[in-house]
Amino acid sequence: MPTPDDSLLALARQRLPHALDTFLTGRAGPAERLAAAARYAAMNGGKRVRPALVYGAARAVGAGPEQADPAAIAVELIHCYSLVHDDLPCMDDDDLRRGLPTCHKAFDEATALLAGDLLQSLAFVALTDSLLPASAIAAQVRVLAEAGAHMAAGQALDLAAEGQGLGVEALEQIHRHKTGALIRAAVALGAIAGGASADQRVALDRFADRLGLAFQVHDDVLDVIGDTARIGKPAGSDEARAKSTYPALLGLQAAQALASRLHDEAVAALAPLGEAAAPLRELADFLVARDH
Ligand code: IPE
Ligand code: IPE
Ligand code: MG
Ligand code: MG
Ligand code: MG
Repeated sequence: MPTPDDSLLALARQRLPHALDTFLTGRAGPAERLAAAARYAAMNGGKRVRPALVYGAARAVGAGPEQADPAAIAVELIHCYSLVHDDLPCMDDDDLRRGLPTCHKAFDEATALLAGDLLQSLAFVALTDSLLPASAIAAQVRVLAEAGAHMAAGQALDLAAEGQGLGVEALEQIHRHKTGALIRAAVALGAIAGGASADQRVALDRFADRLGLAFQVHDDVLDVIGDTARIGKPAGSDEARAKSTYPALLGLQAAQALASRLHDEAVAALAPLGEAAAPLRELADFLVARDH
């Protein structure tokens, strides 16, 4: 499903490669193999959904992308680190990511582990590389650090839930932590970068809360109905590892219906922001209809 040239995803895909390239240069000092692995993990494609959300939230409160660039880079670095670790043999043990060998396959496990560590630390360097007021930067650091902590907790719960046949409440808790928290953080970072009012922050957070859950539900759906060549990661991986997922718990159709309902709630939450939130609405539409 193509995205229009003026979409937030197109904006993120225009800005991120150059920004990441510049930012990552020289960051691992003399450790060349580590630097190459970190670059491989961060620069090898990806939809750039979280940066798009940063830009979209900033735009929804009237701010341009320049103000949001450091946060867009930072949240993508945390995301890329999470993917490198998620794919490791001790976690989901996957060999393919974004259509390429996973980081530990292209390099080795220790290098991939360290590349994740490096990307995580660098995310906070990126966030502080900003012209925003110090109080705004401090607020962003807190938001991103807390989201990273939730993500780690969610990943731990996800692994513990393999083969467990959880109930809906427990599964929702995993998804909110492992994926929802970082999506919520992306929106909050953009809101802070754009100088959002308290009311705007509330509306955007409600949007992100619903969208974050919808995003992982749809990711679970794609693991069932997606095409490996298109999703760029092994379809059927969740079933092979007996993951607790929405399709496994509710069935495919009910999982798709849930994603659609969450999408509708997300979009409804944007109403107070008016036309400035139109790009975020369009992004939400894409995220629950995507085939990759
Ligand atoms: C995949 O995220 C991992 C999840 C949290 C579901 P994305 O679907 O955003 O992955 P990329 O960045 O586009 O590869
Ligand atoms: C990933 O969930 C969540 C994080 C990376 C934090 P999944 O394990 O479902 O992601 P994919 O399907 O491997 O991208
Ligand atoms: Mg996983
Ligand atoms: Mg995985
Ligand atoms: Mg998945």
